[in-house]
Amino acid sequence: MTVGADRTSTGARADAPPAGPPLPEARGPVSAAVRDALTQAPPPEHAALPLDRARAADPLGEDAQLALYVCYELHYRGFAGVAESWEWQPDLLRLRGVLEDRFLAALREAVPGGTDVTGDLDALLVEPLGARGVSHRLKSHGTWERMREYLVHRSLYQLKEADPQAWLIPRLTGQAKASLVAVEFDEFGAGHGDRVHARLFADLMAGAGLDPAYGRYVDHAPAPTLATVNLMSLLGLHRSLRGAMAGHFAVLEITSSPGSQRLARALERLGAEPRCVHFFTEHIEADAVHEQLMRRCVIGDLLDREPEQAAAVAFGVQATNYLEARWSDHLLAAWDADRSSLRLPLDA
Ligand SMILES: [Fe+2]
Ligand SMILES: [Fe+2]
Repeated sequence: MTVGADRTSTGARADAPPAGPPLPEARGPVSAAVRDALTQAPPPEHAALPLDRARAADPLGEDAQLALYVCYELHYRGFAGVAESWEWQPDLLRLRGVLEDRFLAALREAVPGGTDVTGDLDALLVEPLGARGVSHRLKSHGTWERMREYLVHRSLYQLKEADPQAWLIPRLTGQAKASLVAVEFDEFGAGHGDRVHARLFADLMAGAGLDPAYGRYVDHAPAPTLATVNLMSLLGLHRSLRGAMAGHFAVLEITSSPGSQRLARALERLGAEPRCVHFFTEHIEADAVHEQLMRRCVIGDLLDREPEQAAAVAFGVQATNYLEARWSDHLLAAWDADRSSLRLPLDA
């Protein structure tokens, strides 16, 4: 590689992003222990991590969800100053395993289960009259303040949009694989770096007066938000949960198109810049197609080949719905009480 004007002496691009965001602040003993451990470089052969405290923590609470989130981020962009080799440190993986087992158990307890994939997916197409979701609220009378909050919550996923779902690719074969890749090809900009959906979301954030840096708002995000993102990483990183990941991704695609329509209208009403509205208008049509691909070609083909995956697919659909509803309830309860749904004020 030649070192040109746009490259540093080490060959890295001069405009390359810094090596990950800073580690978030701890929210309890488990996340504090993970945070402390990660400051050691290189990772020790044996790291003392509090497995008992991880077992005792509320699996959906702030401490456990943040610890899990930090463990998972090592598989995406990592953190500034944290050695990359922590990604496969056995004691940290063991702690992550405890947190995952507890998280999964809590989700299995919260959802009805069963194998009625068609029924579970069809239910998503029916929007109850007078639906009171977050996008409905923002469309009807959201302010810029509430819209920015919404974008901050969603930034934890949207700035790595479709990355967790990409882990499903090697776990599928045939038509299911081909169709999943067709969806992902669109999510990743169809060959154009400036059209990658994560980039479009960063443009939207900048247009809304927010910092689009990856991981900038993790400290702001409460546990219900972290849980929606942790679910994706959990399902993506375990081959045994491939059916659940397919179900999860189908929910995102099915619910995206009508939600995007409402959010585009909300931003237009607020007089937002075109680059803000663009992220959502791009999703209105694209996700109407993705919905069909996910349902018929990915899940349809997967269940033709592996009918025993039906319970896993249904679990992925239900767990996603459960965590999204919990997240929505958190936001609406805060807004009903006229307070922010974030842990920190946005100007902090
Ligand atoms: Fe997208
Ligand atoms: Fe999509």
